[in-house]
Amino acid sequence: MNSTFNWGIIGPGKIAQQFASDLAFIPGAKVHAVASREIGRAQAFANSFEAPFHYGSYEDIVGCPDLDAVYVATPHVGHFENTIRCLEAGIPVLCEKPLAMNYRQVELLIDTARRKNTFLMEALWTRFLPSTRLMLKLIREGEIGELVGVKADFGFRSDLPPEDRIFNKALGGGALLDIGIYPVFLALLLFGKSCEIKAMAKIGTTGVDEDTHMLLRYPGGQLAQLHGSFLVDSKREAFIYGDEGTIHMHANWYQQTNLSIFRAQAEPQLFSVEKKGLGYHYEAQEVMDCIGKGKIESDRMSHALSAALMLSLDSIRREIGLVYPEDE
Ligand SMILES: NC(=O)c1ccc[n+]([C@@H]2O[C@H](COP(=O)([O-])OP(=O)(O)OC[C@H]3O[C@@H](n4cnc5c(N)ncnc54)[C@H](OP(=O)(O)O)[C@@H]3O)[C@@H](O)[C@H]2O)c1
Repeated sequence: MNSTFNWGIIGPGKIAQQFASDLAFIPGAKVHAVASREIGRAQAFANSFEAPFHYGSYEDIVGCPDLDAVYVATPHVGHFENTIRCLEAGIPVLCEKPLAMNYRQVELLIDTARRKNTFLMEALWTRFLPSTRLMLKLIREGEIGELVGVKADFGFRSDLPPEDRIFNKALGGGALLDIGIYPVFLALLLFGKSCEIKAMAKIGTTGVDEDTHMLLRYPGGQLAQLHGSFLVDSKREAFIYGDEGTIHMHANWYQQTNLSIFRAQAEPQLFSVEKKGLGYHYEAQEVMDCIGKGKIESDRMSHALSAALMLSLDSIRREIGLVYPEDE
């Protein structure tokens, strides 16, 4: 591989801006091309990151020369369509969470990545943050004993209008797919696939979930108590319970650098890690490393993990009665 790595970006919105800024932390990583639904926005974004190519449609970016990977950062309903188009063209993809709208779409994306021998990964950035690595290491080293359960939340009160992508059903809005996905992912990472799911939600006026509470059971006997919300500013902490202690991932747990271990009759033990930038370059680096090794998936955010995550989200949606047009 060249010493430069050329990223393409589809959907130059808020998160794409943060992702592109963080590429500065990776030697050789560059924004090479930008695709927007509107050429002026593509050009403005390309100019601010000195990208040589810009396109006024998402379709056109697949013809861009020398692209090493594309980052898909559109609203949820665009993930499947934009990702599959790139994969069919043999272009590796890092796609924002959730990888698609449902399990059937995720299966199709994975099948396409395999058939085209082309890299695909869901951009679940928390998986690659130093704090997540540290948490997993502490568990592996037995610091809290056998795992018993997890409690995690991700809630912020949103005053965005109903048309915004987070509330708009036609764009795949809803708290579960947008932010509830993080606690569901944490429990999956710790315990594997769940065997029982209970969930309740408040469905808002736009027809999507605004406040979703979940209880999951795992084959190892562990339990997870999870919450995602656009209605309340929750504390956004995670507690991972073991029979010899508890790991407290401080707020906001999904992007933290600090965590503590609590044990009976002992002072909490604080652990800190360094995080550079906002933290989006860690997932970008994983993509670059995997592609450099000729892999079509990451071991740490594997196709199987994304598929299992979507199976959980589908089951939770069944429990709360949330159906999207893509499910029909
Ligand atoms: N990893 C994280 O920390 C994180 C944080 C926030 C969001 N996300 C994920 O990133 C994705 C984008 O989120 P965002 O907050 O960046 O979204 P956003 O700014 O609202 O939208 C991103 C871009 O999508 C394009 N787009 C395509 N169809 C659209 C439509 N019908 N309405 C509005 N925009 C449309 C727009 O670009 P053009 O019109 O210029 O093409 C827009 O700028 C979502 O999948 C979200 O779940 C991840």
